[in-house]
Amino acid sequence: MNKNFWKGKRVFLTGHTGFKGGWMSLWLAQMGAEVTGFALEPNTNPNFFELVDLAQDVDSNIGDICQLETLKSAVQACRPDVVFHLAAQPLVRLSYDEPLNTLNTNVMGTANLLEACRDIDTVRAVVVVTTDKCYENREWHWGYRESEPLGGHDPYSASKACAEIVTHAYRRSYFEVGSSCKIATARAGNVIGGGDWSQDRLLPDILNDFSNGTPVEIRSPNSIRPWQHVLEPVAGYLTLAEQLCSDDGDSFSNAWNFGPSDEGCQSVSWIVTKMQELWGDGAHWSITNTPQPHEATFLKLDCSRARDLLHWHPVWTLTESLEIIVDWYQAFNRNENMRTHALNTLLEFESAGVATGNE
Ligand SMILES: NC(=O)c1ccc[n+]([C@@H]2O[C@H](COP(=O)([O-])OP(=O)(O)OC[C@H]3O[C@@H](n4cnc5c(N)ncnc54)[C@H](O)[C@@H]3O)[C@@H](O)[C@H]2O)c1
Repeated sequence: MNKNFWKGKRVFLTGHTGFKGGWMSLWLAQMGAEVTGFALEPNTNPNFFELVDLAQDVDSNIGDICQLETLKSAVQACRPDVVFHLAAQPLVRLSYDEPLNTLNTNVMGTANLLEACRDIDTVRAVVVVTTDKCYENREWHWGYRESEPLGGHDPYSASKACAEIVTHAYRRSYFEVGSSCKIATARAGNVIGGGDWSQDRLLPDILNDFSNGTPVEIRSPNSIRPWQHVLEPVAGYLTLAEQLCSDDGDSFSNAWNFGPSDEGCQSVSWIVTKMQELWGDGAHWSITNTPQPHEATFLKLDCSRARDLLHWHPVWTLTESLEIIVDWYQAFNRNENMRTHALNTLLEFESAGVATGNE
């Protein structure tokens, strides 16, 4: 990553009131980018956006990506160099309850954003964030490669596979080779970190229950996921956007996986056991036998392309990431200044990145 690249860059980022978008906005602002955010109001209490006082870093627009004209006006007012699309309904289990909202937000919301970008001649790069769940899951033990078939058993996964197809169609139809705007999609694994209070996500569930001294109910102890600290894929999205803006941007205008090495692909029971060890007193868990909606058991990503061509690789091991997350929530419980804490986390990640060879 080239921090200087971001100085003075105009960035339009959807989903800045969320977990990943919040961290990404803070990091971009620290590197000197002028960030315009577009999202709904934060939907958890507490939330990262308010906790780190992100309003001081971002020109924050509260709006719905399903409203094309509102979204277009915000993009036009920003005249961005780079666009990151992170706004979504991102929860698998909620998608079973709200399939139409999930499809509308994730498919039409993506189409609306790309449509808005068609009208602006300043945009050089668009990174559309989808997910590792966009692949047709074969329940096998190998990592999925970018060339593998898309699919989706549940509405969330299907919506993100559709967002991939829609982006691909926009790229081929309106942003062909030679266009000054390059478009890529990014498929990250399960993201963990301080500042996520979403419902039905493993780490927030564990940390809420540990904080309250109640036992965590674990649904699928044997499910394996590619876990990674939130700053890992965010570093990947930033590196990808830099390359899209380079003279060789066409070569990067396709799909990219960002996930951990094998060490970061662990079962749910491995994670909760490790968290129990790190948290100390008050940490208990049990397995629930209540019937659950379908979720894949094995999911891994093959990230060879990102490693070889973007020179991106994970900076923190899974154990290091969990230690950093426990530290975050314990600091939050002690009422520490979480903006300072978040800025220090960014600095630590940057120095660890330099030490492990990421520039
Ligand atoms: N967290 C993960 O483990 C993970 C893994 C892979 C991919 N992703 C993807 O990363 C992106 C960010 O996820 P997150 O974990 O930060 O989720 P989040 O729920 O914390 O944030 C979602 C953001 O999208 C915004 N949003 C939702 N519906 C909207 C609408 N109709 N109009 C405008 N804004 C809307 C919300 O306001 C919020 O800012 C999503 O696209 C998600 O699918 C997340």
